[in-house]
Amino acid sequence: MGKLDGKVAVITGGSSGMALASAKRFVEEGAYVFITGRRQEALDEAVKQIGRNVTGVRGDAANLDDLDRLFDTVKREKGKIDILYASAGTGEALPLGQITEQHFDAAFDLNARGTLFTVQKALPLFNDGGSIFMTGSIASIKGFPGFSVYAASKAALLAFARGWLNELKGRNIRVNVLSPGQIATPIQEQVFDEETKRQFESLVPRGKMGRPEEIATVALFLASDDSSFVNGVELYVDGGTSAI
Ligand SMILES: NC(=O)c1ccc[n+]([C@@H]2O[C@H](COP(=O)([O-])OP(=O)(O)OC[C@H]3O[C@@H](n4cnc5c(N)ncnc54)[C@H](OP(=O)(O)O)[C@@H]3O)[C@@H](O)[C@H]2O)c1
Repeated sequence: MGKLDGKVAVITGGSSGMALASAKRFVEEGAYVFITGRRQEALDEAVKQIGRNVTGVRGDAANLDDLDRLFDTVKREKGKIDILYASAGTGEALPLGQITEQHFDAAFDLNARGTLFTVQKALPLFNDGGSIFMTGSIASIKGFPGFSVYAASKAALLAFARGWLNELKGRNIRVNVLSPGQIATPIQEQVFDEETKRQFESLVPRGKMGRPEEIATVALFLASDDSSFVNGVELYVDGGTSAI
């Protein structure tokens, strides 16, 4: 008996990293998952790795037409959603003084605006008693140089969660934020050089970054009834980085 038997989960940005590790875990626990990403090749590879009970839907989580296509596909194939894990996010580093409109818009378009419309567009398909969670970041409560715009775009998610869970309480839908610390995933290769990676790693008490699988177990907790009384929290999964 799996923890997610018969459940339908939608995971944006699920073709890589933490969300892919979570999608694998959800399927092992009995769920059917829809994963998204912009690159068809990465999506196909992820679908192959997951192996069963998965549909890949190509799309940009910041694009409202793509989100409509995603939820049309979910409606056609399964007709309902129990779990929404809005994980697609982006985050380049630029210090104050060098911030551009493009830098600001890219972060807020996907991390804040895209996440909002992902949740809103999923709602008509949502079963009562479902679980929504969004990927934040411990950056939202730390002052990492260069990451103020990223941090602000992720900080919006807890404010969303608080309002939405109150609006959705009649349907018993929970809304939480899963905020990772330093996790070794492909996004880090894009945004960090080796020196920056070493610096961030040194902030983790155990001296080693987290692994995507260490986020997947927490995603499973938030997705399942194990977290039935957890609502409106930002759960920091960072090995203690934000505590010290
Ligand atoms: N790694 C960390 O240390 C860390 C720490 C805190 C928070 N986070 C957050 O965790 C989330 C996932 O990060 P990760 O480290 O697991 O990254 P990752 O391995 O690079 O995976 C990112 C995934 O998101 C997809 N994606 C990116 N932009 C998208 C968009 N606009 N629409 C749909 N899908 C999109 C990517 O596929 P395509 O490129 O094909 O679209 C890929 O599947 C992000 O929200 C990130 O901000 C990461």
